[in-house]
This record gives sequence, C-alpha cells and structure tokens, in this order.
Amino acid sequence: MIILKTKKQIQYMKKAGKILASCHKEIAKMIKPGITTWDIDKFVEKYLYSHNAVPEQKGYKDYKYAICASINDEICHGFPRKKPLRNGDIVTIDMVVNLNGWLADSAWTYGVGEISLEAKELMKVTKEALYKGIEKAIVGNRIGDISYAVQYYAEAKGYSVVRDFVGHGIGKKIHEDPQVLHFGNPHRGPRIQEGMVFTIEPMINVGSRKCVMNENGWTARTEDGKLSAQYEHTIAITNDKPLILTEQ
Ligand code: MF3
Ligand code: CO
Repeated sequence: MIILKTKKQIQYMKKAGKILASCHKEIAKMIKPGITTWDIDKFVEKYLYSHNAVPEQKGYKDYKYAICASINDEICHGFPRKKPLRNGDIVTIDMVVNLNGWLADSAWTYGVGEISLEAKELMKVTKEALYKGIEKAIVGNRIGDISYAVQYYAEAKGYSVVRDFVGHGIGKKIHEDPQVLHFGNPHRGPRIQEGMVFTIEPMINVGSRKCVMNENGWTARTEDGKLSAQYEHTIAITNDKPLILTEQ
C-alpha cells in the first residue's frame, strides 16, 4: 500500500532531508586519505543529534551504525571500520535521518584523494543515471519509466545495474511501497501520483551486475571485485517537477 503524503508532511521530510544534505556536505570535506569510516560514523551520529535528529539506520534490523560505508567493490551496507581510507579509494556513504518521526534517505559516493579515470567516470555516470530517473518522476508516468530510464542510461554507457537492491517508498518508516527498481520496462508498475515520496538509488558497476554477500550477512560486493558506485535521493512527487528532498 502506497502512503501518500500531504504537503505539510512533505515539508517535514524536507527538513530531515536538509539536515541530511548538510551532513553530506561536511562528510565531503572530511574525506581524505587516512580518515576512517569509523570516524565518519561517529561524526554523523554527533552531527545528527546536535541537529535534534536521529540516525535511523542504527538499530534498524540489528544494524549497528549511523551510516553504511561501502568501499570500492562493496555495493552497499558496508560497515564503518577502523581501517584508514587510502588514496584512490571510492566510498559510498548512505544514511537515513529521522527528524521528529519523518525520514529522509540519501547516499553519495566520494573519491578519496586522487582517483582513477575509471572511478571518476563510474561516479559521473551513476549520478547522471540517478538524475535521469528523477526526470521521469512526474505525475502521469509509471514507476517503470524511472526504472527504464536509469537502466537505459547506465547500460548505454557500458555499465551494469545491480538488481538485488531497489529504491523504496519512505515516510515514517524506511521502507514503504512502492519498490523502485533501477531496471525494467517502461509504462509498467504503479502510476506516479502527487504526494508519493520514494528513493531512487541506483548502484552501478564497472563489471558484472552480480553481487556476493559478505560473511557479516549485510555487506554486498561485486562478484568480480570491480568498482561499484551509488547515488541516492529521496524525492517527493508534486504536480510540477519532482522535489528532491535531500539535494545538497
Ligand atoms: N539507506 C538504505 C537504503 O537506501 C537503508 C539502509 S538499511 C540499514 O535503503 F539497515 F543499513 F539501515
Ligand atoms: Co539509503
């Protein structure tokens, strides 16, 4: 069941999104060779609490951290760790912010120091694929139009699209209907209506789209060890253009 949000509720979610976006801006400044994702996790926790917000991922299904931090071939749900980031790494930081019971969710991939051309190009195309999807998030279209636009763009550029993880409705809970796949046929799925709020969060790989699961039961990485990137926004459907609630 898709829970439509009122304009007022969307404004509440936008406030959560604004804190999330400014937190990502701070993270962007911190990311350098030598810093650990453990430090970033601690920073995020403090940052959110000091803005009267709560890191929603912590305690969600026994997840222990404020952020997911997925490095290089890790696709998503990487655990923060005490190992320093190295020059040339890429790291996706994903988090969900709860402000007064309303949530926002956004992930961003960052380059550490000087990164390869391969990594830069992957990040660029992944971000563009997200925005191709957002463009289709308008009243009258269907969710499948978003899915198709993301997949078409990424694959035309020679990349593969992860199928095991999908975008989702969001509101007072992290995961609501509808599911937003990043692959599939246009003109399919639920019609997009004013008041829908959901994430679009493509995970795009340099090589194979297939995932393997770590022993920790959470972290997915690419089966071939090649790079993966992800960008995610929470968006609200209006009668006009989609409203990006987590824009930086
Ligand atoms: N932020 C994630 C998403 O994009 C949800 C994280 S699951 C958690 O769907 F368990 F790590 F919190
Ligand atoms: Co997320």
